[in-house]
Amino acid sequence: MAGITVNLNCFPAPCRLFFPLRGRGILSLKAMPTRSKGTNSKTQRLLGEVGKGEEALVEMIHVLVQALEERDEYTKGHSERVATLAVLIGKKMGLESSRLETLERGALLHDVGKIGIRDDLLYKNADLDPEERARMNQHPEKGHFLILNSHLLWDLIPIVRGHHENFDGSGYPDGLKGEQIPLETRIVSLSDYFDALATKRPYKEAYSKARSVDYVQSMSGRKFDPKVVQAFLAVVDRFYDETIKPLER
Ligand SMILES: [Fe+2]
Ligand SMILES: [Fe+2]
Repeated sequence: MAGITVNLNCFPAPCRLFFPLRGRGILSLKAMPTRSKGTNSKTQRLLGEVGKGEEALVEMIHVLVQALEERDEYTKGHSERVATLAVLIGKKMGLESSRLETLERGALLHDVGKIGIRDDLLYKNADLDPEERARMNQHPEKGHFLILNSHLLWDLIPIVRGHHENFDGSGYPDGLKGEQIPLETRIVSLSDYFDALATKRPYKEAYSKARSVDYVQSMSGRKFDPKVVQAFLAVVDRFYDETIKPLER
């Protein structure tokens, strides 16, 4: 049987930037296969191709997250925090490793469509008027069409397109309801919202942990899936203490 190990040297330097985060569950890359006796050259070549595809995928996610955060200074770290919380919730809900991986990557890229949103809307420190709101609300579709350009990212489309859908069907862009919204997307939706509440934005100060948690609970069954809210309540203290609190210093 082929031995399995994580080979960090398989990844170029920019990709290794993600690895300090792995202990927190960020970008837990698939284990890289190693050579072993009895594995024929064809299998080795196929395994090598899988490795290269994985490497290209991680690089692409890294580039897109960097591009987004260069545009929107205020949300620096938002994508990583959303991924951290989403993975904690996903683990609590018992998702298997391949689903956790998709969840993590989709969470990292959920707002990638904001690359296509005008600066005056991204940086506005007041409420958006209805026309501006409609433009801002196009970012899930813009993200969908952006990542459609790479088949390596297609698994992430439901999360990127659907992260502003609401459990009761009142969200956008498709008005999906309940389990029409994939579980991973429901998890990212809550994680995204909690991070937005608990951190400072151009249009608001950071809410306290208690106020942010209360808000999420008050929206259980409306904006958020009650089962996801329950899992969130079990992990939020750890997430807040390890990820949000350090921002306050
Ligand atoms: Fe968003
Ligand atoms: Fe977001």
